[in-house]
Amino acid sequence: MIQIAPSLLSADLFRLAEQLDQCTRGAADLLHLDIMDGHFVPNLSYGPEFVRAIRSRSALPLDVHLMLSDPGPFLEPFARAGANWISVHLEAGPHPDRLLQQIRALGCRAGLALNPGTDPDALRWLTPHLDFVLLMSVNPGYGGQTFHEPVLAKIRRTRALLDGLGCPAPIQVDGGVDAQTGPRCAAAGAEILVAGSALFRQPDLARAIGELRCQALASGGRTPA
Ligand code: DX5
Ligand code: ZN
Repeated sequence: MIQIAPSLLSADLFRLAEQLDQCTRGAADLLHLDIMDGHFVPNLSYGPEFVRAIRSRSALPLDVHLMLSDPGPFLEPFARAGANWISVHLEAGPHPDRLLQQIRALGCRAGLALNPGTDPDALRWLTPHLDFVLLMSVNPGYGGQTFHEPVLAKIRRTRALLDGLGCPAPIQVDGGVDAQTGPRCAAAGAEILVAGSALFRQPDLARAIGELRCQALASGGRTPA
């Protein structure tokens, strides 16, 4: 099972409505929205009103990736704006378990995001509150960066850790995912591929979504560690 989540960070804002329709036509599973505060990451993006606008135009589930130093006060505004999935970064503060519980209490799926340099072993203690894990395969903040190869081993290790604990939470990979790296992530055990520039730079976005899914499925899915 592979899910494709186009990242709207790479969308053309002047053609956004049309590109949202193409995501639906291409059977995207989620729309990934990157929220940046200029502090946790060295860039700014958008807030709840943007998410609300996307919600009014698309029926696809909205996957909101909070790259914020202090995500707590923003969980409810994003949930009210229409988020269905919300991820916070493990590096953002001392109480990820509390944030995950708050996300679930708001009726959303709760995810924990890990930067490339963060060890996944901390997940061991958080599985009761976890609906998905986001492994960053670039340093967060910008689209169009090069895939970080060591994350492939980290996907395998994280999948083995979660399986060993009986935790079915899927692994999402975000950053530099394309026709070459996406299938390798899937083979390593990732089930959700976030892709921005690799999809939106294609002339036919709907088709590109389907192709990425087929390429990932053709990798044969997960192979033993
Ligand atoms: C980066 C974001 C990503 C970004 C991925 O901080 O979290 O979601 O949009 O873009 P690509 O797929 O171009 O690397
Ligand atoms: Zn993201």
